[in-house]
Amino acid sequence: MSVRLCTLAELKDGEALRVELDDIDVAVVKVHDEVFAVEDVCSHAEVPLSQGEVSGCTIECELHGSRFDLRTGKPTGPPATRPVPVFETSVIDGVVYAELENK
Ligand code: FES
Repeated sequence: MSVRLCTLAELKDGEALRVELDDIDVAVVKVHDEVFAVEDVCSHAEVPLSQGEVSGCTIECELHGSRFDLRTGKPTGPPATRPVPVFETSVIDGVVYAELENK
């Protein structure tokens, strides 16, 4: 299911935007010309990843510093060991959508 997340204009390079949907919260990040969407919950202790720092294609959890690759959701720095779900995004007429069916 394709779900509207936000407009492209709402996204700032290097900052995550938290989008609260009915069943799930999503962190949306624009990196240059690409937009990534991951579930906005750290896999370590369930705090919002969107409050963390973005560096390139990496988001770092503000609580204990776990890092996740926004392209794959895989942890690239401890203490998290489990990935976070990532969602395919598309941009149509300046609006960002994500495919959430695998959630
Ligand atoms: S809650 Fe994110 S690293 Fe611990």
